[in-house]
Amino acid sequence: MKRTPRHTMISWRSTMLPRLHFCLLISLPVLLVQGSATNSAKTSPAAPASAPPRPPPPLGDPTWALGLRLYQALRSDSSSVNTLFSPLLVAASLEALGEGSAGNTASQVQDLLKPASPSKAGAQAGELLSESLKRFSDANGTSFHLHASSAVFLKQAPAFSQEFVKKSQSRFRLQHQTLEKGDSKADQKRLHDWAKAELNGLEGGPLETEIKVKAGGLILANALRFKGLWERQFSEESTDLRTFLGKKYTKVMMMHRAGLYRRHEDIDNMVQLLEAPLWGGKASIMLLMPFHVESLARLDKLLTLELLSKWLEKANVTSVAISLPKANVTSTLSLQKQLSALGLTDAWDQKVADFSGVSDKSKGKLHLGGVVHWASLELAAQAGKGDLEDESVEKPKLFYADHPFIVFVRDNTTGALLLMGALDHAEGEALHDEL
Ligand SMILES: *[C@@H]1O[C@H](CO)[C@@H](O)[C@H](O)[C@H]1NC(C)=O
Ligand SMILES: *[C@@H]1O[C@H](CO)[C@@H](O)[C@H](O)[C@H]1NC(C)=O
Ligand SMILES: *[C@@H]1O[C@H](CO)[C@@H](O)[C@H](O)[C@H]1NC(C)=O
Ligand SMILES: *[C@@H]1O[C@H](CO)[C@@H](O)[C@H](O)[C@H]1NC(C)=O
Repeated sequence: MKRTPRHTMISWRSTMLPRLHFCLLISLPVLLVQGSATNSAKTSPAAPASAPPRPPPPLGDPTWALGLRLYQALRSDSSSVNTLFSPLLVAASLEALGEGSAGNTASQVQDLLKPASPSKAGAQAGELLSESLKRFSDANGTSFHLHASSAVFLKQAPAFSQEFVKKSQSRFRLQHQTLEKGDSKADQKRLHDWAKAELNGLEGGPLETEIKVKAGGLILANALRFKGLWERQFSEESTDLRTFLGKKYTKVMMMHRAGLYRRHEDIDNMVQLLEAPLWGGKASIMLLMPFHVESLARLDKLLTLELLSKWLEKANVTSVAISLPKANVTSTLSLQKQLSALGLTDAWDQKVADFSGVSDKSKGKLHLGGVVHWASLELAAQAGKGDLEDESVEKPKLFYADHPFIVFVRDNTTGALLLMGALDHAEGEALHDEL
């Protein structure tokens, strides 16, 4: 006999407030007891008098400009599930390639990476991207575990120019590879094997569309695997099995924590934003979730950089009780269609593409043959090394993530966007009585 009868789900879904209170009752006793115990021992009030410093708003950064547009292009295909990618890696490798191009090809890349408003001190996209790559790499092992690689594969063509290799390697960590003569199956396998190695053995999914590379074709490939280490860990003891109301209803392990977090709720748009710092303060994970159970379609369409900036600006530190699924989100994407729709058109066309800086003997030959992307995000309870005192928590707001949400990982100094994605579905035992 199945346990969760259909009418129970309906009543959970249709009456939001009772559902929240119910969840609070069953999920929080342990946390609340812990919270109030430390509470009484402390003298300082919960909210800091002045808000801690925060990174610049996303408007001046190329990763946000590209990230948001690319996200929406990907999500306009309503069959996309758990879309996840690294705006920073895509932007940095496009910039590297753009610097090896000329004419229209170059200006189309520049347009793609143009921030919504000029950045501080008029820094160029290339400098910002290079700097952000370095920051994330430096924070690896303290704030998170990160594997991140980018490569350009060149199919049966003249050698890369030395200058391009040197510059793109040192500034954007771009690897340079070749694809041998052979059919698209062989190319596909080569790319897949590269991704698997760069993801430290994680088997990436197959590409949904076959990539056919002609001689002279350049393939940009990114691979990223990320696991954040929270500033304060989620309670392992209170982790329990709950229902996630995503594309399919599934049973997933949910982790819980009550603490002080930066949060904002936009009542008009019925969405709340939460920012959870990672260990060492180098980066943070931001979550964006509709108030009620719904697919992300509405929120996906609503998102603009201006709105996001506003929410981030308004967010302030408050007591929040968070429940999050433990989950692995993985995604394999081919971005040609989306990047073309965003204005990158000349690069793909052998007749007009100008990658004269990539190879000395490239006239009329070199062109972009594909942009492929593997990304994986692990949501786990773990924090970084070291013990922090629990905060005192009072009347926490709820962030009960039992339904789809959007996730961002950003650098705490530059604000650059390492990762952006949607969690529409959490892997777990299916409930067969969904609506
Ligand atoms: C992060 O550290 C791990 C383990 O030391 C290493 O394998 C990986 O390549 C590093 N990632 C980056 C992006 O530097
Ligand atoms: C960002 O860094 C500042 C300064 O080190 C720190 O006060 C703040 O808490 C950090 N924010 C996050 C979200 O980690
Ligand atoms: C946090 O923001 C809300 C809404 O913007 C405001 O009502 C509240 O006073 C703020 N709290 C602090 C501590 O700044
Ligand atoms: C996610 O993947 C890691 C290994 O890559 C594994 O240890 C962990 O248990 C997975 N988490 C879930 C919720 O499946």
